[in-house]
Amino acid sequence: MPADSFAMTTPSEPTRSSAIECLAPARVNLLGEHTDYSGGLVLPMAIPFFTRAAIRPRMDGRYSFASEQFPGGPTLDPEDRSAARGEWSDYPIGVLRQLQSRGVELPSFDLRLSGNVPLAAGLSSSASVEVASAMAMLALTRATLTIEEIAVLCRRAENEYVGSPCGIMDQFVIVAARSGHALLLDTRTLVHEDLPMKKGELEETQIVICNSMVKHSVATGEYGMRRRESEEGQAVLVSRFGIRDLGDATLEQLEAVRSRISEAAFRRCRHIITENARVREAKDAMNAGDPVAFGKLMRGSHTSQRDDFQCSCEEIDFLVEAAAALPGCFGARLTGGGFGGCTVNLVRRDDAEAFRSALTASYQQRFHITAETYLCEAADGAWRHNAEWFGTAAGAQ
Ligand code: GLA
Repeated sequence: MPADSFAMTTPSEPTRSSAIECLAPARVNLLGEHTDYSGGLVLPMAIPFFTRAAIRPRMDGRYSFASEQFPGGPTLDPEDRSAARGEWSDYPIGVLRQLQSRGVELPSFDLRLSGNVPLAAGLSSSASVEVASAMAMLALTRATLTIEEIAVLCRRAENEYVGSPCGIMDQFVIVAARSGHALLLDTRTLVHEDLPMKKGELEETQIVICNSMVKHSVATGEYGMRRRESEEGQAVLVSRFGIRDLGDATLEQLEAVRSRISEAAFRRCRHIITENARVREAKDAMNAGDPVAFGKLMRGSHTSQRDDFQCSCEEIDFLVEAAAALPGCFGARLTGGGFGGCTVNLVRRDDAEAFRSALTASYQQRFHITAETYLCEAADGAWRHNAEWFGTAAGAQ
């Protein structure tokens, strides 16, 4: 992809009464889990759930934040530097702080968020809020930012202000995705490529997301712990072999340092190394339009997440196993951060309706929980959705 850059000038100056609305989708990750904070590869796509950020200038120099879903919302003075509040407004405020620290001059505004992204489901509602907010704030300015810069800025908002140690995958795909395509991203270089979802026999398939409706409370702390364990292994590999990060590591190298790292670090690294290899193979499977090969990689990814990264749970394992036994299912796996949330399934299109009802029925029977299923086509990212505010036909990029 060429470097994406354009001047973010509004086509007409907003008046006090006119609100600018920016949309950002959610995402589902098809393959490449927990590889995005150690220089690895990911293969997500944007999905048509949206956060809408409506922004309008105000006259008193302050910044106000409101949400249709949650009551209350702060109004901040321009010099406010208060810490995160542990609530939804942390995400747009984190974005505001990042823009301010880059020297972007932001006029005073009212920002109002609404949307339909399922919360705590592993579909990136938080990155969707960050990106929608960033696009809306930028639409009020004359700053020039690239896709990469917007994604990095939103990730920093989450790492530095919200305090969550996530990687770059969610923010990047939510900005940069192209409809009808998955996005293959090298998280070290941010080089990315759109891979068509409907090539060859993949044309006959459908992505079915199944929301387990559970999120185990360990999720937040465990994510950071898994990350630290993988970094323990990475540090030893880097010093022993002079590699840049786990994105370069091989299983042979990992075996060679096995006695010098903890069992947990060994397993986390083994997951990441094999997962990067699966993403490479997935690119070939997509280019060959081969759902059988792709589904096999999804199954391998789930096993590796369950046994090596140890980020699955009983409900998710049940959904993956039940899915595998249903007609038309090529592959199923846990998607997102883990410990609950969603599975992503590659299913023959003609079987998709029967698949979703059989899967939810067996889950209901086993756990007495009503799962939600979403049949999704790959959507455009925020860059293309909001092209009208940014002076160029972003869709042409
Ligand atoms: C969460 C994080 C991402 C990524 C995934 C796991 O969604 O926000 O950065 O690490 O978990 O692949």
